[in-house]
Amino acid sequence: MNNHASIPVGVLGASGYVGQELLRLLHGHPDATVAFATAESAAGEWVDGHELTKADDAPWQQAEIILSALPHGVSARYVNEARAGGKRTVDLSADFRLSPDAVYGLTEFTRPRLADAELVANPGCYPTAALLALIPLAQLGLIDPSREVIIDAASGVTGAGRNPKRELLFGEVAEDYRAYAIGNTHRHLAELKQSLSREGGFTGDLVFTPHLLPVKRGILETIHVPLTRVLDQSTAEGLYSATYDAEPCVQVMHGALPSLKDVVYRNRVAIGVAEVADVRRPRLTVIAAIDNLVKGAAGQAIQNMNVMLGLPETAGLAC
Ligand SMILES: NC(=O)c1ccc[n+]([C@@H]2O[C@H](COP(=O)([O-])OP(=O)(O)OC[C@H]3O[C@@H](n4cnc5c(N)ncnc54)[C@H](OP(=O)(O)O)[C@@H]3O)[C@@H](O)[C@H]2O)c1
Repeated sequence: MNNHASIPVGVLGASGYVGQELLRLLHGHPDATVAFATAESAAGEWVDGHELTKADDAPWQQAEIILSALPHGVSARYVNEARAGGKRTVDLSADFRLSPDAVYGLTEFTRPRLADAELVANPGCYPTAALLALIPLAQLGLIDPSREVIIDAASGVTGAGRNPKRELLFGEVAEDYRAYAIGNTHRHLAELKQSLSREGGFTGDLVFTPHLLPVKRGILETIHVPLTRVLDQSTAEGLYSATYDAEPCVQVMHGALPSLKDVVYRNRVAIGVAEVADVRRPRLTVIAAIDNLVKGAAGQAIQNMNVMLGLPETAGLAC
């Protein structure tokens, strides 16, 4: 690969929230250019200087790598078409996250497998934050498998995509806050469990409850972790620092907790911890925050693309 040539990237689903974020980030990328950008109902419109074509008419040969931000259930067909044409692909939908055909692109933990990957399944937004918060504890055997890990997560409304839906109208979400997909029914649970088992060796129960937060972007997760032994705050912070000190896109907070303003528009997860007083068995509360459209989607996809292409991992990204 030639590090001095600009790499042409094809973006599928460029009229959606994630696709638009991909275009924004690629325009600031020193080693990549947008070769083509697709849309469905918005085909023919111009976004950031690109005329959107139908995915059916995508000029695959003009791109070296494809980033697909198509809806799940739609993406697989086009990703397979790109692969049949010999193109390396990062799929941001859920279509390949449980598939043995793809490398799961949780960059900080699967980096060595990304370099040669033909197909990378970019993790979901909620799982990215939860996994980066839980894997360090799981790897050290600190999570008690006889008790549930409770993940209460809240996302801004861009997490639901740009297609109009009545329940996402301003009049419905403004000044409100509500849970949805309760009772472990959210589709992200399966990839969360798979990756926590594969990277952390933890196979105990998780209870995952998403909430809709009336902001545009950002996810904050409050994770209640049952511990196998007592961890005071500074020991717990030290343990996260030991895992992530060399990681450019993970911020471990010391004596402070993250909030959305620490992460929006950044390709960063911010993690903070607190020991829990007045409980009979040891627990840790871990707070993790990300921008759902950046580290939770487009930014992590570009981080993965950079690793695949041998570029500096954070090229084009503000972590
Ligand atoms: N939103 C997030 O925070 C987030 C985070 C992580 C992962 N993801 C995943 O990323 C993907 C994109 O999410 P999003 O929120 O950006 O969705 P979105 O706003 O609804 O955008 C979907 C895109 O796909 C296009 N599209 C829809 N149906 C199509 C079809 N049948 N054939 C070809 N193109 C079609 C749309 O084109 P038109 O608009 O022109 O119809 C649009 O460009 C999804 O798989 C989602 O699960 C989203």
